[in-house]
Amino acid sequence: MTNPAVSDLIARSNRLGADPKNTNYAGGNTSAKGSETDPVTGESIDLLWVKGSGGDLGTLTEGGLAVLRLDRMRALVDVYPGVDREDEMVAAFDYCLHGKGGAAPSIDTAMHGLVDAAHVDHLHPDSGIAIATAADGEALTKQIFGDTVVWVPWRRPGFQLGLDIAAIKMANPQAIGCILGGHGITAWGDTSEAAEANSLRIIETASAYIATNARPEPFGPALDGYAALPAAERRAKAAALAPTLRAIASRDRRMVGHYTDSPAVLDFLAAAEHPRLAALGTSCPDHFLRTKVKPLVLDLPATATVEEALARLGELHESYRADYQAYYDRHATPESPAIRGADPLVILVPGVGMFSYGKDKQTARVAGEFYLNAINVMRGAEGLSRYAPIDESEKFRIEYWALEEAKLQRLPKPKPLATRIALVTGAASGIGRATAVKLAAEGACVVIADLDGAKAAAAAAAIGSSDVAIGVTADVTDEAAVQAAVDAAVLAFGGLDLVVNNAGLSLSKSLLETTVADWDLQHDVMARGSFLVSKAAAKVLIEQKLGGDIVYISSKNSIFAGPNNIAYSATKADQAHQVRLLAAELGQHGVKVNGVNPDGVVRGSGIFAGGWGAKRAAVYGVPEEELGAYYAQRTLLKREVLPEHCANAVFALCGPDMTHTTGLHIPVDAGVAAAFLR
Ligand SMILES: NC(=O)c1ccc[n+]([C@@H]2O[C@H](COP(=O)([O-])OP(=O)(O)OC[C@H]3O[C@@H](n4cnc5c(N)ncnc54)[C@H](O)[C@@H]3O)[C@@H](O)[C@H]2O)c1
Ligand SMILES: [Zn+2]
Repeated sequence: MTNPAVSDLIARSNRLGADPKNTNYAGGNTSAKGSETDPVTGESIDLLWVKGSGGDLGTLTEGGLAVLRLDRMRALVDVYPGVDREDEMVAAFDYCLHGKGGAAPSIDTAMHGLVDAAHVDHLHPDSGIAIATAADGEALTKQIFGDTVVWVPWRRPGFQLGLDIAAIKMANPQAIGCILGGHGITAWGDTSEAAEANSLRIIETASAYIATNARPEPFGPALDGYAALPAAERRAKAAALAPTLRAIASRDRRMVGHYTDSPAVLDFLAAAEHPRLAALGTSCPDHFLRTKVKPLVLDLPATATVEEALARLGELHESYRADYQAYYDRHATPESPAIRGADPLVILVPGVGMFSYGKDKQTARVAGEFYLNAINVMRGAEGLSRYAPIDESEKFRIEYWALEEAKLQRLPKPKPLATRIALVTGAASGIGRATAVKLAAEGACVVIADLDGAKAAAAAAAIGSSDVAIGVTADVTDEAAVQAAVDAAVLAFGGLDLVVNNAGLSLSKSLLETTVADWDLQHDVMARGSFLVSKAAAKVLIEQKLGGDIVYISSKNSIFAGPNNIAYSATKADQAHQVRLLAAELGQHGVKVNGVNPDGVVRGSGIFAGGWGAKRAAVYGVPEEELGAYYAQRTLLKREVLPEHCANAVFALCGPDMTHTTGLHIPVDAGVAAAFLR
């Protein structure tokens, strides 16, 4: 049975974590102390349950808790070798675990165990951090809270900070918690309710104090020309800048991006003090790995043209890299982990918004959320005093902390298509849908573009959250709609790497039956549609300078002269030649262009279900429901071809193994000698 202390702790953590005002994503941790019967001795023992490393308070479950023997954890005080070797204590926690120990204990475990209160919350609220990073944070703490909340000077999280806070609690029995300079807050209570109430009291009191006492315009007066562009113009400019911004963020390592034009960001960038504040860097210690210490800020007004912005961004990127290298060189010691890349993870564009980057969409999005937290913190701190985050050398000690590096090294190997952004046309059904599922399963972010927007959205939702797949409505015959789909991909995930021209439909008619409208429709969707998609996508691929893949789902019929098939097969042959033409043209940009030639994919195909199957069955003289089996029997392998087989071929072409192949078509037809390529 779950210990009541644990159920209270989980409920409290979930409540606190549900409100972003209380703590940033995955920030902060909570704990409870209680007793249980030791299964070995039958005696009562005191335990500490504390949120383990990783995860978010809002979704914390019992499995996310580390469980330690309180007597052994506290006995570590006697062997503690001092602050210079405090990191060693993290490994020592493993010798204090109870039973299987649960989640890995985090660096903050010492604070929770050593503080003499049954329930402890450590949180990163914007309002609390605003006080914690104000130049006169200590005086403000006294003024706002009297002696109920105590100031603790900045110290990197660890065993010593735990000892400091425990001592402060002892010396201040009236205190309900403390403000941790440059960092966050810690509150405690004898009951879970008391701890929660004390946390909320600190957060809300700080927030109310800022609201009533902050000076107007904490970011300074409005800057001429820096106001937000109108929404449509802003998004168009964002989409136009995004490929180059991704190139900037990805010079050392390919990144996925996130864009936001939230009012908080636009207001910050429209005010006079934003360049000075942005240069001071972000505030919360656990942000640096995700945001880097400071963003790259475009120093041009919103009214600058895309061309002017791109030219200036190129210069700013070089100086950002040089600055970052210099920062690393200033602080690195022989023991420091190697530099992790010198490109910015947050890029701010006045009038347009914020672009943030990470190894996947969720990481990129959270980096942006962290910078929003930083903006809120700066607003509060500047409103009351002056924003004064921790020293650069301390930031470096956090960013290149050996313990953080060890966590990075333990991360699982990324999937083969991680950081790649795919757009698959006609992916609401059949082969396209199977391809989108496969690419997502191999780690790609996927944009499902289809004429049928509702089906596209449903197919995306079946793959996962909007961090993994989105659906967009797009008619590939319409140039503007194609551009809008590519823009949607670029705004959702930062760019584009992998394009699958799959949208199609099929009419089975003899020459004399084929109308001009039939001919045009087939050619509009397939030859013209894939031309338009390739053209819009190639512009992004070229600007990103990251290479890429374009795959055409062509057909066996691009080579084989089947019966009653003039319009369909002719446009498939056009698509097949686009593969060769574009492979020749785009090779210089590192873009590979290949094709897949399926045949007889009956199951799951809307083309077959929508009348084509019946007609082909009639042409071959078999019942429609036996068409798949009929096709299988006429293959060399006697196997039925499924959408998944075509999807596997797309993955083979753009996965890690076929890096040196372009201009190729892969038949996925279970072997049709008449369609052999030569
Ligand atoms: N099924 C086969 O045996 C077979 C064989 C060879 C080639 N192909 C090709 O594979 C591709 C996919 O076929 P499928 O069998 O999966 O068909 P499908 O009908 O299941 O899927 C095609 C999708 O394309 C979409 N689409 C149609 N017109 C569009 C437009 N103008 N803009 C955007 N989306 C549009 C449809 O809404 C549909 O979701 C087609 O290009 C087809 O020619 C299929
Ligand atoms: Zn913290």
